[in-house]
Amino acid sequence: MDPESQRFPMSLNTPTALDVVIMAAGKGTRMKSRRPKVLQDLAGRPLVQHVIDTAAGLHARQAVVITGHGADEVEAALRSRPQDLVLGFVRQEPQLGTGHAVQQAVPVLADDGVVVVLSGDVPLTQADTLRALVAACAGDRLALLTLEMDDPTGYGRIVRSPSGSVHAIVEHKDANDTQRAIREIYSGIMAVPARLLKGWLARLDNRNAQNEYYLTDIVKFAVADGVQVVAHTIRDAVQVAGVNSPQQLAELERAHQLRLAQHFMAEGVRLRDPARLDVRGQLLCGQDVEIDINCVFEGRVELGEGVRIGAHCVLANCRIAAGAVIHPFTHIDGEKLGVTVGEGALVGPFARLRPGAQLGPEVHIGNFVEVKNSTLARGAKANHLAYLGDATVGERVNYGAGSITANYDGANKHRTVIEADVHIGSNCVLVAPVTIGAGGTVGGGSTITKSTEPGALSVARGKQISIANWQRPQKKK
Ligand code: UD1
Ligand code: MG
Repeated sequence: MDPESQRFPMSLNTPTALDVVIMAAGKGTRMKSRRPKVLQDLAGRPLVQHVIDTAAGLHARQAVVITGHGADEVEAALRSRPQDLVLGFVRQEPQLGTGHAVQQAVPVLADDGVVVVLSGDVPLTQADTLRALVAACAGDRLALLTLEMDDPTGYGRIVRSPSGSVHAIVEHKDANDTQRAIREIYSGIMAVPARLLKGWLARLDNRNAQNEYYLTDIVKFAVADGVQVVAHTIRDAVQVAGVNSPQQLAELERAHQLRLAQHFMAEGVRLRDPARLDVRGQLLCGQDVEIDINCVFEGRVELGEGVRIGAHCVLANCRIAAGAVIHPFTHIDGEKLGVTVGEGALVGPFARLRPGAQLGPEVHIGNFVEVKNSTLARGAKANHLAYLGDATVGERVNYGAGSITANYDGANKHRTVIEADVHIGSNCVLVAPVTIGAGGTVGGGSTITKSTEPGALSVARGKQISIANWQRPQKKK
């Protein structure tokens, strides 16, 4: 049990059912983007997906996303992704304020639960913060997530009575000078019993500076009804920071990445510089992993014990086994097929491993070598300027500089099989389908179109001629 739930052990006997409402209908004008704001990417996921994932971490029974601007696109994007909880959508047309937004969800909210209201553009709230908020709600109070800010301009202010209890939230535009001096702000996040919420939403009006239906007005109704309003105050502004502009998006990306970096270092990963790490998916590290600067990890990446990643590498959807070294400027992207790099293998610098590259133990892939949909058995080497596509390469094969598998005939892909202990010279073209028999040798510059016998030397190129005392043409005067 985490420390927060120990402090508020309310859910031990009768776990409260949670429904999460995510407001995501706003326009996001300041992003100046065609893409709806809540679909902008942070660490490899849309902003709103972070919010949904946090809701899933709360074991909410459903998350209801309120869509409006770009609704089709937002709904399609979220439906196309695997989701860890039941996800529903409700449209808000037109957008008449946050209270009006939540009103749209009323028909899909059961009376028995607690509703957690979140915003689709506030991506980095932590699940334990929300758990504490839900605990503070305790099934019968209105709980608000609040924060002290040095510059609270623009935010709703938490107005307290002399006794300290929360009295109201006043929006910046409606606030008088005394209220504007209040530094405690409402984060936009609350936990509220569904039954009470529904009653209060029905009472909202839009008589205010913005002619909007403010969700924050329910605080007044709670006070009037004698329902306790509690503030759960946190200090960590990143958790409630919203994204309104590309600048804020970049700031939150860095804040998030720095937190991930701290997490990895706490697990023992050696990062040369925590400020120069980008994890845009799931990174799993064994013991004694070392990562140099400016590396990007996407999708699911597994790094085995003692793996070293050089500077400026991009790794996506791959498994790097123990002791392997990925030298600088290497690009590995397994996409759907994945890439595996075997124990003790050496890859790069400047190597490219594409989907279906499967490198066995101790394989060496050097600079400007591209490998796609190919298996290389233990100890095989392709050290310089080469292409291996749709190939099966045996143990200890040496694949020369500048050699390629011609795997594509313009219509179909064909396989090249290079059996164990073959030596392919430099600048060879292996025209698939073709098999080079075990232990064979292919002379440099050969274009091989027919399979070769084990142990054979194969040379397929113009014979060398040498003309003695050859005079090169002279420039005309
Ligand atoms: C809101 C709060 C304010 C709080 C601030 C925190 C209200 C009235 N005010 O103000 O107290 O300090 O958040 O960031 O709630 N949205 C809709 N439909 C609408 C309007 C908004 O879905 O009709 C969505 C937006 O897309 C956004 C969220 O609700 O995700 C918040 O809306 P926003 O306009 O940013 O509210 P603020 O004025 O910032
Ligand atoms: Mg806002």
